[in-house]
Amino acid sequence: MTGPAEAGDGPVAGVIGTPIAHSLSPVIHGYWLEMAGLPGRYVKREIPVESFAADFRRLLTIEGWVGMNVTVPHKEAAFAACDRLDDAARRLGAVNTVIRHEDGVIEGRNTDLYGFRASLEASPDWPQVRTGTAFVLGAGGAARAVVAALQDVGFADIQIVNRNPARAEALARDLMDGTWGGLSARARDGLEQSLGDCDLLVNTTSLGMEGQPPLDIDLRRLPETTLVADIVYRPLETGLLATARARGNPVVDGLGMLLHQAVPGFQAWFKPPVAPTVDAELRRRVLDAAGIEDTAR
Ligand code: ATR
Repeated sequence: MTGPAEAGDGPVAGVIGTPIAHSLSPVIHGYWLEMAGLPGRYVKREIPVESFAADFRRLLTIEGWVGMNVTVPHKEAAFAACDRLDDAARRLGAVNTVIRHEDGVIEGRNTDLYGFRASLEASPDWPQVRTGTAFVLGAGGAARAVVAALQDVGFADIQIVNRNPARAEALARDLMDGTWGGLSARARDGLEQSLGDCDLLVNTTSLGMEGQPPLDIDLRRLPETTLVADIVYRPLETGLLATARARGNPVVDGLGMLLHQAVPGFQAWFKPPVAPTVDAELRRRVLDAAGIEDTAR
């Protein structure tokens, strides 16, 4: 039973969703609390769709949480329930990080955009990547964050490819900001022939994930300098990344996005004197907790 938060043992934050049992967020925040020697707790709570609105307010008021992460299926409901939104949340129409400010205002942020950008920028290969043309595979919620991050990074041309082309078109339309035209939906047909112009290839679909079909793409025409990223992290080295790596391409796995997206929430809730770091030990702990084999070298 959780008592009122901040009763001498530090702030309490947590993650809500359903199902929530396998969330790795407690491992991430627990590690940073331990490293910083800070008081506080980060818990997980199963919240059904039916009672979301009431539970959301109760956790932040009566239970005194300083904030929370919001995961599937509540990100859009959280967007609607917050008093104030940051730019990223507004652009993505979804909230994954909530902060209760001292004046009681409940702010919704979306840190997935930051998380993907930070995971790219943490790659030793990132400085060599030309911000010319990016191909994004998929058009769901994760693609939305990835495309917005690539807009912010300054890619001149972002092309979205999706099984359901109408969804790719809708995403391109939604994120087009009027002043900047380099965002489009493209057909799957002919993708392989266009890979010669690709500077960054990102998979945001669930293809290649454990239990899902593999991502079927022929990389023969892809320049060896092209960075290949996957947001799938189970397995850590997806078929796409294994093929890319074998032919000499730099790769970024999906774990980085998960870890980096947690940084802004931790800072807002627990106020560490220095920003938490995404280091090798954190990766090891999260992979251990998830039972994922560490195939990175
Ligand atoms: P998320 O929020 O994680 O992005 P999502 O919104 O369900 O999840 O999106 C999943 C993405 O994977 C979509 O782009 C989906 O394609 P559709 O929009 O055509 O459904 C893609 N995807 C999932 N299974 C797929 C499959 N078997 N073949 C091709 N694309 C697939």
